[in-house]
Amino acid sequence: MIVTDKISDIRNIIKEQKLSGKKIGLVPTMGYLHEGHLSLVRISKKHSDFVAVSIFVNPIQFGPNEDFDRYPRDLERDLKLLEKEGCDLVFAPSVEEMYPSELLTTVNVDKITDKLCGAFRPGHFKGVTTVVAKLFNIFTPDIAVFGQKDAQQVAVIKKMVEDLNFPVEIIKAPIVREVDGLAMSSRNVYLNSEERKAALILSKSLKEAEKLLLNGERNANTIIKKVNEVLNSEPLCKVQYVSCVHPDTLEDLTYIKDKALIAIACFIGTTRLIDNILWEEKYNAKVYDEI
Ligand code: PAJ
Repeated sequence: MIVTDKISDIRNIIKEQKLSGKKIGLVPTMGYLHEGHLSLVRISKKHSDFVAVSIFVNPIQFGPNEDFDRYPRDLERDLKLLEKEGCDLVFAPSVEEMYPSELLTTVNVDKITDKLCGAFRPGHFKGVTTVVAKLFNIFTPDIAVFGQKDAQQVAVIKKMVEDLNFPVEIIKAPIVREVDGLAMSSRNVYLNSEERKAALILSKSLKEAEKLLLNGERNANTIIKKVNEVLNSEPLCKVQYVSCVHPDTLEDLTYIKDKALIAIACFIGTTRLIDNILWEEKYNAKVYDEI
C-alpha cells in the first residue's frame, strides 16, 4: 500500500496505473475509519482494479461553530485498517497541500443543497462539492464510492457529476450499522454511555416508519408524524428535522409513489447525528440495509 501526502505523487501513480490498463476506484473519507468506510473500500475493490482512499478532514465543509478542531483523527490506525483491506493507495494530505493559497474557486450545487442538512449547515455542501471536485481532478477515478448514510451528500455529488460532466461513475453503498442498529459514524465517539443508549432512538424511529410503509401507509405526513413522536419520546433527543423526500431530487413528498427517502437529523446531547431509510415501492421494502 502506497501512502502519500503529495498531489504530485498521486498524479504519477495514477498515470502509471492507467497506462497498465487499471480501472481506478476512489473512496473519499475524513478518516477515523470504521466498518462503514471499510465497506466502501470492499465495494470499490469489486468495481475497480486499483483502490485509492483519501483521508482529509476538510476544513471548508465545517461551519464556524462545528467540530473541525475536535473531529477525531488517527492516521496510524486508519492505515493499518486499510492495509488489511488490501487498499492500494492512500492520500492523506495536509490542509496546505489541498488549499495552498486563498481559495477563490468553489463548486456549488444549487437548490438541493438548501434543504435537509443544507438548511441547518449553510456552506457545508459547497465545501463538500469543492473538495470532492478537487479529489476527482487529482485522481481522475473511473468510479467513486459514497455511503447512503449521507443520503443528501450522494444526491448532491451525483448532480455535480451530471452537471459538470465528470467522467466518473458514482456508486452508492448501503448504511453499515452497529449490531443494535445505530448507524456507524466517526462522530459516535462523542457520545457518552447514556447518550449512546439514547442514540438508538434514531434507528428505532426509522424502523417504525418502515413498519408503516410495510403496512401500506403512503401518506408522508403520517410517517413524519410517527417518526417525530418516537424521536421525541427520548428525553436526550432534540429533533432537527424529519423529512420524507424523493431520493434523487430531494423534493418533499406528500404521497409516496415509487421511491422515498426518510431522512432525520437529531442532537443527542451536543452531538448531531443523521440517519435515513430508502424505500422503493418495487421491492415493497426498505432497500440497501437488507439487500
Ligand atoms: P466521512 O464522514 O468520513 O465519510 C466518508 C464516506 O463514508 C462517505 O461516503 C459516507 O457516506 C460513508 N459512510 C460513513 N458512515 C457510513 C456508514 N455507517 N455506512 C456506510 N457508509 C458510511 O462524508 C465525508 O467523510 C466527507 O463529506 C467527504 C465525502 C470525504 C468529503 O470531505
